[in-house]
Amino acid sequence: MIRIEGLSKSFVDKGGAVHALKEINLTIANGNIYGIIGLSGAGKSTLIRCINRLEEPTSGSIYIDGQDVTKLDNEQLNSLRRKIGMIFQHFNLLNRRSCYKNIAFPLEIAGYDKSTIDKRVDELLELVGLKDKKYSYPSQLSGGQKQRVAIARALAAKAEILLCDEATSALDPDTTKSILRLLKDINTELNITVVLITHQMEVVKEICNKVAVISEGGIVEQGNTFDIFSKPRHAVTKKFLKAEGTSPELIGIDKSKYTKLLNITFLEENAYQPIISDMVKSTNARVNIISGHISSVQGKPYGNLVIDLDGDALTIENALQYLKNNNLCFEEIDLSE
Ligand SMILES: Nc1ncnc2c1ncn2[C@@H]1O[C@H](COP(=O)(O)OP(=O)(O)OP(=O)(O)O)[C@@H](O)[C@H]1O
Ligand SMILES: [Mg+2]
Repeated sequence: MIRIEGLSKSFVDKGGAVHALKEINLTIANGNIYGIIGLSGAGKSTLIRCINRLEEPTSGSIYIDGQDVTKLDNEQLNSLRRKIGMIFQHFNLLNRRSCYKNIAFPLEIAGYDKSTIDKRVDELLELVGLKDKKYSYPSQLSGGQKQRVAIARALAAKAEILLCDEATSALDPDTTKSILRLLKDINTELNITVVLITHQMEVVKEICNKVAVISEGGIVEQGNTFDIFSKPRHAVTKKFLKAEGTSPELIGIDKSKYTKLLNITFLEENAYQPIISDMVKSTNARVNIISGHISSVQGKPYGNLVIDLDGDALTIENALQYLKNNNLCFEEIDLSE
């Protein structure tokens, strides 16, 4: 388990201090695939780099399996880093070394003998599906293959945690999918905890069971991926979902034409009931459908529908009350903005 408590990080340079992380509290249970999303400059890389102390925290604690990593000496830190693999957007392979030699690198540093290294590298090449590229050089590989080598290298010394900083951002959608499948397999088969930074919402939806949203160095929302995506609360989360088109598209809508715009979220529990048509029947409110979409997180569907309620003030009041009484999850869209 990774437990981050009151973590802050400030950078001081000529221009003054940048408070990149402010009092972050976050718990990542073993076996999670934990997504961290946020806009550029929000502090995502700084946060993930504090976990293996590539970045020194200014204050706060990070416990990994009960041990505070901020208090480790160099030797302890080296052994911790063997437990924590890391992969990056641009792969960071050693170009003068073959795949074999790239994967062997951390094992050589750890002082393993050649036959142990050979055996382990073969296992890893098998795991990432690159047995036939053992003696190829990075320049001879596709982006997806390079990332596979990087994953093998990150896991070489039997890592228990894999940190991924925008690991699929440089890849096309199909290759992204195949890398995500590999990460998921690694997670389930080897029980490796994955912490994954991304700005791609589909990555989070595809494999993360938990997600935290970070904005200006602070966590503004965190929880189960399904809950966060289906019922986003914070403006930054909503902005993300809007940007990728899974939030009701209101851009270009002339709000002056509407009386009472509602954004309704359909979850499993209310997806099969005709609440809207029943509401129309019992209150005489008129409903105009503005937009709708359906989406899913790891196969679990949720939907959004934007409607406009029309009628006199009392009718609208009754209609809203009807929806509330039937536990429909909705929010009113501010028409003044
Ligand atoms: N070494 C550094 N020196 C000074 N400021 C830094 C340093 N590293 C990061 N920062 C600042 O800290 C803040 C957070 O940066 P960080 O790289 O963590 O953002 P990010 O969320 O990973 O962004 P991106 O999505 O663009 O990668 C930014 O304001 C950045 O300028
Ligand atoms: Mg970053």
